[in-house]
Amino acid sequence: MIKQESIENLKSIIDIVDVIGNYVQLKKQGSNFVALCPFHSEKTPSFVVSPTKQIYHCFGCGVSGDAIKFIMEIEKLTYKEAIEKLASMYNFKLEYTKGNSFIHLDLLERVNSFYISNLYKNENALNYLKQRGLYDSTIEKFQLGYAPTSHEQFKFFKNANLNKKDLIELGVLNESGEYPRLIERITFPIFSQNGKIIAFGGRTITNHPAKYINFTNTKIFNKSKTFYGLNFAREHILRSKKIIITEGYMDVIMLHQAGIQNAVATLGTALTKEHLPILKKLNPKVIISYDSDSAGINAALKASKLLYKEFFDGGVVLFEEGKDPADIVKEGKNIENIFKNEIDFSSFIIEFTIKKYDLKNPIHKKNAIDEFKNYIKELPEILKDDFSIKASQYLQIPPNILKVKTKHIQNLNLNKKIDIAEASIIKTLYENPEIMDEIIEYLTPEMFNTHFYELDAVYKEDFENPKLLEIVLRDDIKTLDIKTLKNQIRKLLIPYYQKKQLEIKYNKNLSNEEKMHYLKEINLKLIKLKKGELVESDIPI
Ligand code: GTP
Ligand code: MN
Repeated sequence: MIKQESIENLKSIIDIVDVIGNYVQLKKQGSNFVALCPFHSEKTPSFVVSPTKQIYHCFGCGVSGDAIKFIMEIEKLTYKEAIEKLASMYNFKLEYTKGNSFIHLDLLERVNSFYISNLYKNENALNYLKQRGLYDSTIEKFQLGYAPTSHEQFKFFKNANLNKKDLIELGVLNESGEYPRLIERITFPIFSQNGKIIAFGGRTITNHPAKYINFTNTKIFNKSKTFYGLNFAREHILRSKKIIITEGYMDVIMLHQAGIQNAVATLGTALTKEHLPILKKLNPKVIISYDSDSAGINAALKASKLLYKEFFDGGVVLFEEGKDPADIVKEGKNIENIFKNEIDFSSFIIEFTIKKYDLKNPIHKKNAIDEFKNYIKELPEILKDDFSIKASQYLQIPPNILKVKTKHIQNLNLNKKIDIAEASIIKTLYENPEIMDEIIEYLTPEMFNTHFYELDAVYKEDFENPKLLEIVLRDDIKTLDIKTLKNQIRKLLIPYYQKKQLEIKYNKNLSNEEKMHYLKEINLKLIKLKKGELVESDIPI
């Protein structure tokens, strides 16, 4: 791990203009720099870099962040890798903490050896694997083992002097340390990309109702960031520029045995956003190959929507009803050809979304159209047209029915209606977050007429909020000194409380007595405001 302090020191010397200037041609415009956005295609620049705020923002596609985020996005790196890249750009020596994960990894290797030795002691377990069609060499390659009874495992942990706390922390024992997570199961060690064991999965051979059990997430294992088999498949994926993603351990193992070595599996979860950085780095064509039951098809639909949106090339392969890749290999079918006949992502999304609806029924058809519109909204600009045209052909409707309005902010759209008074308050708070605690006592978002959303974003410290950035990056909105700020707020509060008084006067749910009371309180506020003071925002009603 990189020391936090070291990251902070690095951050203090990097300049976002320098960093981004290495990738795009920046042009000075006011106090900012502008460029053609490297994250979407455009002809007029809407990508703004602010040297004072050390952030970038694209008014066209909405991306924003700091120098680290920029490097992560443009180079497809993890946070840690981006820090390392920046450090090398600046010749900066990072300091690392001394991790103790070394001992942990060793512990899982030892547990694994124990499980492996038990497989060869247990005839049932070994026969099970043979009967599923696995060769000896496959069992060895994937280091499959067998977790015996709880009693036998505890005996081993004790003899091997393994620390109970470590066994719990790494998931071998349950949270309370009372029993091993895997009991009487075939064990599948789960490896990191560079081949270290980070967890285990286990399949019952005694008809236990939970067919598979995977380790829960631990500090070295995160299910939704891990692909089973990637350590073996990595090279083959890079060479073939193609990855096959399946649902389960057995699919991966059988496919590798059949010579298809670019296969991996997600671990009982669907493909998630968190998997995407790994995929982006490998940058392959992606073939989704899930079970062809309804759960599998739904998961494939979700995965396709995610991958298409992120510009992945590839598609989905479907098997006969109810079968999975492992079954097909076992049947001895030529699976290689099946993987050449994928349905591309957009066709799959369209066909299988439509299947959910009866298009002869106009209400169903409208629902289908709405579902497509919602997805189209999420798509990046350059995919919108292609996808709408294709979907409209399937739906047999004119393409413009699927047109969704896109918010197009041109080149720092200075014509956009903006309330200068409110905007300058927002910008001042954004630039001086230390005064927020005080201001929030007088001013709450609903007191604004126009920019309540942006004020709320500042208060929530959602500093990368695109709507907020649209205000704070404008040169024509001035930052106020504290006295002017308070005065500006005061001027906004007077009409606000006057309006409140009217609302109370005409409120039918209040008794006269109540009205008198509230009106008096607000009157006191108005008197103070007019005298030049600010008042707390504890509105009585
Ligand atoms: P077999 O071929 O019968 O061994 O199973 P499979 O590899 O076809 O697995 P299946 O398609 O049933 O499930 C796919 C993946 O989902 C498995 O590899 C597991 O990771 C996960 N999974 C399956 N059943 C369970 C379960 O009961 N509990 C949990 N947590 N995960 C499961
Ligand atoms: Mn399966």
